[in-house]
Amino acid sequence: MKVLFTDHDLLDISLERDLFREAGITLIEAQCRSQREVVEASEGCSALLIQYAPVSDEVFAARPGIGLCSRIGAGYDTIDTAAAQRHGVWVANSPDYGVGEVSTHALAMMLSLLRNIARYDQDIRQGQWHYSTAGRIPRATNLTVGVMGLGRIGKRFAHIARNTFGQVIAYDPHIIDGDFPAYVRRVRSLDELFSQADAVSIHCLLNDETRGLVGASLLQRMKPGSYLVNTARGAIVDIPGLLEVLAQDRLAGVGLDVLPDEPITRDHRLLADRRVLLSPHAAFYSAESEVELRRKAALNIVTWMRTGRPDYPVVVGTRHPPA
Ligand code: NAI
Repeated sequence: MKVLFTDHDLLDISLERDLFREAGITLIEAQCRSQREVVEASEGCSALLIQYAPVSDEVFAARPGIGLCSRIGAGYDTIDTAAAQRHGVWVANSPDYGVGEVSTHALAMMLSLLRNIARYDQDIRQGQWHYSTAGRIPRATNLTVGVMGLGRIGKRFAHIARNTFGQVIAYDPHIIDGDFPAYVRRVRSLDELFSQADAVSIHCLLNDETRGLVGASLLQRMKPGSYLVNTARGAIVDIPGLLEVLAQDRLAGVGLDVLPDEPITRDHRLLADRRVLLSPHAAFYSAESEVELRRKAALNIVTWMRTGRPDYPVVVGTRHPPA
């Protein structure tokens, strides 16, 4: 069986090479940026291992031999799942490798904003040594933290944030009351979440429902001096709307690990704002989580080849591995 590694930004792929070699699978490597390039590179392949390459109808129609797309990551928004379903192609991901990393990163960003850590550091390097340089700091136990999306990462975030903040509230329209831990108060609308929380952390998926959902009208509902952190997907936040609200001096700090267009351009307006704290889509990363992520994504393909079903299916397909 032959597998195409559609694209990656990894420094070394010996982990994948070794794992596939042991399973008797041939791995070919490309750096596809478009569906056309995926089609061209995937002749004779039965599965795709994908980092960022877009995959939809064009690929599935041109390559009926491809039965599985395994995404290196928890999110799978670059794979058109509706198209995969139509063509009977399995889609799998690596959902649980970095729950601790992402939730810790989100809390670290939130606390850095709240305690003004990054700004103090900048001020000290410019010769200013005083606790007041970064402005007023509220007491964390007087604040309410809000979680948007109480899935795997959102729940862990709520768990580790609850001893720091006075109250945890959360909005998630797709889960039942029983899935809300006792220490999390459920709110029934995004309006309530954004107007009641002093700091909101975004942990929902990116889909048609959530794309651009956090924009000017919602952010304007936040109390003056509030904080926003996004470690989920960049396109959930409407950046022009965010810039508009930043200009109105409402938000005290914004932490973004993800952006609609990554990497950020050198002249981006966000870079000029001291209230904005950025990291380069790094929330998933620890030495251990990276290995777990890559192993699980590759093993989806090995397991599918052996059993006809990947370890972590997102779309249940009908195409079979080659006999
Ligand atoms: P999950 O699927 O376990 O949880 C997502 C939750 O969002 C679900 O409970 C769902 O009901 C909820 N949700 C869906 N629509 C919503 C809406 N309109 N409003 C509020 N909640 C909504 O996903 P998981 O694993 O917790 O991942 C969360 C996010 O983190 C995803 O966007 C994922 O892509 C992202 N992520 C980011 C990483 C990074 O390095 N920055 C690494 C790993 C994941």
